[in-house]
Amino acid sequence: MKLGVFDSGLGGLLIAKSIREHIPDIDIIYFGDTLHLPYGNRSKEAIYEYSKRAIEFLFEQDCNLIITACNTVSASALRMLQQQYLPNSKYKERRILGVVVPTLECAIDLGYKNIGVIATNYTVNSNVYGEELQKLDPKIRIFQAESPLLVPLIENDGGQWLSSVLEHYLMPLLNNNIECLILGCTHYPFLKEQIRSIIGSDIAILAQDEIIPLKLKLYMESHPEISDKITRNGETKFIVSDFTKSYENAAYKIYGQEINIEESGAI
Ligand code: DGL
Repeated sequence: MKLGVFDSGLGGLLIAKSIREHIPDIDIIYFGDTLHLPYGNRSKEAIYEYSKRAIEFLFEQDCNLIITACNTVSASALRMLQQQYLPNSKYKERRILGVVVPTLECAIDLGYKNIGVIATNYTVNSNVYGEELQKLDPKIRIFQAESPLLVPLIENDGGQWLSSVLEHYLMPLLNNNIECLILGCTHYPFLKEQIRSIIGSDIAILAQDEIIPLKLKLYMESHPEISDKITRNGETKFIVSDFTKSYENAAYKIYGQEINIEESGAI
């Protein structure tokens, strides 16, 4: 069986690449739902429907553990997928993991008391980071900023506008004296350097491409009933639901090397 990495598009390639670096031998299938990208401005119903199909597709491709790299999915559909869809499906023994709770756990472990988050409109408005933090440690304060223009700018070569847009989104957070900034979207690790130059060196950047592979390793160690079934040939298969030349270029830029991408079509 294999590890599935699911994202609404190609941003999750950053996490897939980092998982590959941390766990070189496991077999991975990456699925990006480029046909329906972006999820961040869609309704809860639409995100649930698209994610359910993507998860089922990855199960059919023989994945027994799936990471939903997409924060928007983690914010909207994940709980329903874990608690309603999975137990009533024929894939009961398989597992779906999200990225929000592991990221908050990392911030808490590092002792931060004032946390900033930037994410898509959906993720921020869902308040998933606030609600999960409330369960983990209600004394910690969280400040969130919707950053809807970042994904389109990253995906459409809008680099020249990124600094001013980032400044616009980050300034209100800086005024709240945050100690760390969670990059709550698959694409944002791509902006680490630009964000660093705006927020300075005193605020820690918590990026999921660094956090999730470590958390995944811990999960796999403590769940041998799942991880022992994952084959270890070091193979990665990349599948998207819609494939164009510009997605090919974006994938190359994000993954940092040429990759062979298959197209599933609508799933
Ligand atoms: N993958 C999404 C996320 O992490 C960003 C792109 C989208 O809006 O679909 O929230």
